[in-house]
Amino acid sequence: MELLQEKIRQEGIVLNDNVLKVDSFINHQMDPVLMKEIGEEFARLFQSKNITKVLTIESSGIAPAIMTALELGVPSIFARKRKSLTLTNDLYTAEVYSFTKKETNEITVSKKYLHEGDNVLIIDDFLANGQAAIGLAEIVELAGANVSGIGILIEKSFQPGADKIRSKGYHLESLARVKSLQEKKVEFLEEQTV
Ligand code: G4P
Repeated sequence: MELLQEKIRQEGIVLNDNVLKVDSFINHQMDPVLMKEIGEEFARLFQSKNITKVLTIESSGIAPAIMTALELGVPSIFARKRKSLTLTNDLYTAEVYSFTKKETNEITVSKKYLHEGDNVLIIDDFLANGQAAIGLAEIVELAGANVSGIGILIEKSFQPGADKIRSKGYHLESLARVKSLQEKKVEFLEEQTV
């Protein structure tokens, strides 16, 4: 997606060979025009999948997920990383280990919002090792629902997540695919003309 690549080129900060900082438009301040276009693009890419729910994980997945859900005309759900006081029972849970943060989170979704037969589109901001997306897919499958697709804003293609997800047979669409962050430069897999 050209607009996202352009934004990454202009405002992305390469922290090191593995981490791209996008705080000015995705992870802290958010660009609503970009998020709207991202929602339209995911809705277009998954239009034939009869999506009934869009699922993400707090916090940075929420903005693109809700814009996608708005376009598709379906509800959006976010998995919680901490149990809420009012959501105590009847939860689907999965363990998600973050290689980046070196911590495990138990992620949860209320059984009220995911049902057998739902066609679920999973959305997240980054795909690194794939643990978050795989944990979300586990929750969908626990509910007896279908993982109809996985939509990612920024795939770091040099890390193992994308291959892991494709090898499990999921339909993965990434809007920007980063080939390398070496020498403080962002190199994309499919270079668009600047
Ligand atoms: P994985 O799910 O693909 O295995 O990723 P990993 O554990 O490595 O990522 C853990 C957190 O770090 C996630 O955010 C993920 O979005 C973020 N992350 C991974 N790589 C990058 C990167 O290159 N740049 C930035 N900015 N973030 C990255 P999170 O902890 O869930 O945070 P948030 O959603 O609350 O923002």
